[in-house]
Amino acid sequence: MELRHLRYFVAVAEERNFTRAAERLHIAQPPLSRQIQQLEEDLGVGLIEKGSRPLRLTEAGQFFLAHARPLLDQVRDLKTMTQRVGKLERTLSLGFVASTLYGQLPEIIRRYREGHPEVEVTLHEMTTVEQLQALKEGRIDVGFGRLKSEDPSIRRILLREEPLMVALFPGHRLAERSGGLRLVELVHEKLLVYPKAPRPSFADQVLAVFSEANLAPDHVTEVRELQIAMGLVAAGQGIAIVPESVQGMHHRNVVCRRLEDKHAVSPILFSVRHMDRSPELENMLATVYAIYDDLGIPYVKESL
Ligand code: BEZ
Repeated sequence: MELRHLRYFVAVAEERNFTRAAERLHIAQPPLSRQIQQLEEDLGVGLIEKGSRPLRLTEAGQFFLAHARPLLDQVRDLKTMTQRVGKLERTLSLGFVASTLYGQLPEIIRRYREGHPEVEVTLHEMTTVEQLQALKEGRIDVGFGRLKSEDPSIRRILLREEPLMVALFPGHRLAERSGGLRLVELVHEKLLVYPKAPRPSFADQVLAVFSEANLAPDHVTEVRELQIAMGLVAAGQGIAIVPESVQGMHHRNVVCRRLEDKHAVSPILFSVRHMDRSPELENMLATVYAIYDDLGIPYVKESL
């Protein structure tokens, strides 16, 4: 059994159709069918139910698919990481969700550069979902995101749970209150959530915070990004739920109020390829923890 048999079988199983799988693999259909037949002969068991349309996997086929996928992920990671190790100059490509720019990200980058001037750091703004794909394709080495999606080829470290706040127009009746606000007080407000796409996104995290409290906001408007949401809040078009660090944006005509509900938090996650233990990543994680220590930000330490 060769690696190409695994790749061909995964494509056929995912497409559930030989023609589409052949197109995806850029090969003709007859050789693809022959390779799958060869694989079944080699294993001595059927992987695809004979005559099924759309194609169905046998129990052995499902088992093979579940184990072939992580193997292919590992081969891809091995290639990316070997290329990294072989490069003479050290690089670190970093993906981040926009809101982390208002948190500790600038300080983290500054301090990391100071401590490791030999490493060329590049930054790419992208959503958490985009970060997972970029990690797999080797376009970034670490992602700072907010969604806890499960993916066996990605290792996630929870850096901290950032409290959420309500962004309001200064004249809003709730803005005049000195203390914190409760989610239940917000259900009849016009709620602006972002980003609209790709989903799931921070928008879904905000809606989940409401549904965890058995609440459903009456009016929800999806907007493209954080800056648009803040602009519309300033224009009195609605309210938005934002991470605490967004307060630091000093947006004109927007005030932020604490949310008192204990579960109203947004995680900040450090995502890397599962096998990647490079010193650049170890040092990046150490830099984040050093800044948390300096600022007294609570966290639970993990190692790569
Ligand atoms: C933070 O605000 O905690 C943070 C932001 C970006 C990267 C890592 C941590």
